[in-house]
Amino acid sequence: MTLASPRVVTIDDLRSLARRRLPRAVFDYIDGGAEREVTLRENCRVFDDVTFRPRQGVAVPHCDLATTIVGTSIALPILLAPVGSSRLLYPRGEEVAAREAGAAGTIYILSTLSGCRLEDVKGATRGTAWYQLYLVGGRDAALAGIARAKAAGYAALVVTLDTPIAGLRVRDVRNGIKEVLSGGLARLPYLPQFLIKPRWLLDFLSDGGLMQFPNVVIPGQGPLPYLDVAAALQETTVTWEDLGWIRAAWGGPVLIKGILTAADARRATAEAVDGIIVSNHGARQLDGVSPALRALAEVVAAAGPRMPVLMDGGIRSGSDVIKALCLGARAVLVGRAYAYGLGAAGGAGVARALEILRADMVRTMTLLGCATVKNLDGSYVDVPADWPLRRQHNLANVLA
Ligand code: FNR
Repeated sequence: MTLASPRVVTIDDLRSLARRRLPRAVFDYIDGGAEREVTLRENCRVFDDVTFRPRQGVAVPHCDLATTIVGTSIALPILLAPVGSSRLLYPRGEEVAAREAGAAGTIYILSTLSGCRLEDVKGATRGTAWYQLYLVGGRDAALAGIARAKAAGYAALVVTLDTPIAGLRVRDVRNGIKEVLSGGLARLPYLPQFLIKPRWLLDFLSDGGLMQFPNVVIPGQGPLPYLDVAAALQETTVTWEDLGWIRAAWGGPVLIKGILTAADARRATAEAVDGIIVSNHGARQLDGVSPALRALAEVVAAAGPRMPVLMDGGIRSGSDVIKALCLGARAVLVGRAYAYGLGAAGGAGVARALEILRADMVRTMTLLGCATVKNLDGSYVDVPADWPLRRQHNLANVLA
């Protein structure tokens, strides 16, 4: 399949291709959000509330997209967000995505709920990888995962705080995910959606048809089965109090993912974490929370200029990335934008997604008259009157 322009111009084109290749249940697993999907829609729409203020008559012969985040230099301020079970989307999905992140000069964040072994994922990329931590399976399973991630060379730990229970993703329920995983006769009505996608099915089966999480090894039991993940999440809320033992075991940089309010930003700052990721989990958890970009403005204002703040949620173009950087994000994470590419065409799809975002960024910055991402700040945008906006928040970038 050719993914070159003009066939695939936008992330939405990759979404259409993913929809064509994947069974409905797998496509909806990526595409869907929680409950009425209000926040899912708002995460994308809210970018339209922010408008650009270009500086005309400024020549930009070269755009510098490089930045530094938690001690790592990256060529592109777009990290690949943790996306659990990426191996459902494409054979050895997490390894494939990590390899493309490294090739693009950026960081891959591996979910605890990965279908591939964390050692294999780290080995697949020539770039930096971070490990995203859930406590599924309990503290001992988490400690074993942390020790493995450390030994494998992961550079930072991302602790996700927004998943004390799995969100209600209505599409997953309707598609019979639980019944399919539980096996037996109950799954029969749901199987046709897989059988009508023979290319995906063949890929999935040839990759081992994996139904366990190899990085969550429960002492005395072995790897956590897919079927048990919802219950496992519910049994293990990650709290601020857990940060102490997690940091002691890890001994390296820790970022907190899932912050949406000034109060929690101040708590994270008081805990001296190494970075904050503003996120509503791609609108897959609590429906009705503020769209991530809106929360970014509040968190940046509260976190102070020295705290690296990243954000994710709703980014589908390079111009979205620029808006987030103007509002104070040091870099962004993308989830669906690359997951659609992975589901559409594996590594080629992830590479194309990153290339689309990169080219959008260069074009947008050239039109704005700004040559380096380090100079993007609130002076390049207008925001709704009730949003906080710092005109020089990226001073932190200059100081870093
Ligand atoms: C996620 N996300 C996620 N986050 C996390 O901390 N651990 C995880 O295992 C997962 N799994 C996951 C699966 C899928 C299919 C999606 C789409 C998302 C959330 C992810 O890291 C990120 O916060 C969002 O995807 C960002 O929103 P966008 O870019 O998808 O709009």
